[in-house]
Amino acid sequence: MKPKRIVSGMRPTGKMHLGNLHGALLNWKKLQQQYDCFYFIADWHALTSDYAHTEIIQQSIYEIILDWIASGIDPELSTFFVQSDIKEHAELFLLFSMITPLPWLERNPTYKDQLKELGQKDINTYGFLGYPVLQAADIMIYKANMVPVGEDQAPHVELTREIVRRFNHLYGEIFPIPKVLLAPTSRILGLDRRKMSKSYNNAIYLSDSDQEIDKKVSQMITDPQRARRKDPGDPEICNVFTFHEIYTDSETISQISQDCRLANIGCVECKKIMSENLKQGLGPLRAKREELADNKSIIKEILDVGNQKARAIARQTMIEVQDAMKIKTFGSRT
Ligand code: TRP
Ligand code: SF4
Repeated sequence: MKPKRIVSGMRPTGKMHLGNLHGALLNWKKLQQQYDCFYFIADWHALTSDYAHTEIIQQSIYEIILDWIASGIDPELSTFFVQSDIKEHAELFLLFSMITPLPWLERNPTYKDQLKELGQKDINTYGFLGYPVLQAADIMIYKANMVPVGEDQAPHVELTREIVRRFNHLYGEIFPIPKVLLAPTSRILGLDRRKMSKSYNNAIYLSDSDQEIDKKVSQMITDPQRARRKDPGDPEICNVFTFHEIYTDSETISQISQDCRLANIGCVECKKIMSENLKQGLGPLRAKREELADNKSIIKEILDVGNQKARAIARQTMIEVQDAMKIKTFGSRT
């Protein structure tokens, strides 16, 4: 039996951080063992909110592919490509847009949230409203069965299902109905205890140096109740401890937990231990990243191969779609 197909993408808006690693990348890495995975850079999606700042896109694509490979996502097992290189996404987006009722888009919760949140940017655009329709095209052009995404993206996959049901009803059963594969939520927070995010300036990046990691860890907010060294702490509400739970051995973890509650260990010392373990844990990933970073042409080759593979499938799907919709029956298909 053919393995089920997975499609997921990321917008090229900067390098990957530990939140991305534990929220998405390690999950993607696991999935590639079992499924036919297509992972892509959603550069058109980046334009929906950042159309005025296109300068970071190119560099981000390169950095993100480095981060993916360094994290263990293997371009031999998974297909990597760039959305804007496969023009068929735009064609299917156009066709889907014809059958997508406006109210479906207007009541999309992420749309309403983002309009509020990104108040300073002008995102009152046609493209931004249509964001989930483009996402639906990304997913269906490869006839994906499953879409691994975080909770915030689940409504978009839900909308994809609605659009696909409508399409299949109107033109015939061309597409499978894709399922959301909810990614395990990363418990890791940013340095300031908010969600780790580039825009909050609170992230530890996979590409950070030893010094940067030490410095950032030293700035982390710990248990806010623990104002003085002699105050007992509560590791359960401390973000540094969450990092320990991933990067430190279990014996040390229980020791720290105990010592923290009794104020036998100070946060400075506790952070030093964590920082050492974090650097060590990320060691192989960072070594791989550095090794690849010197070789830009490898990244280009990987994307060339992936683009070709993706394009062949996308073209085939478009032929089926055109037939089903009874368009392009006269001229030749080139
Ligand atoms: N919207 C997704 C995000 O911001 C990125 C994305 C675009 C995507 N197209 C997709 C994810 C298709 C999964 C499938 O994270
Ligand atoms: Fe957090 Fe460690 Fe400080 Fe306890 S000692 S509050 S676990 S940093």
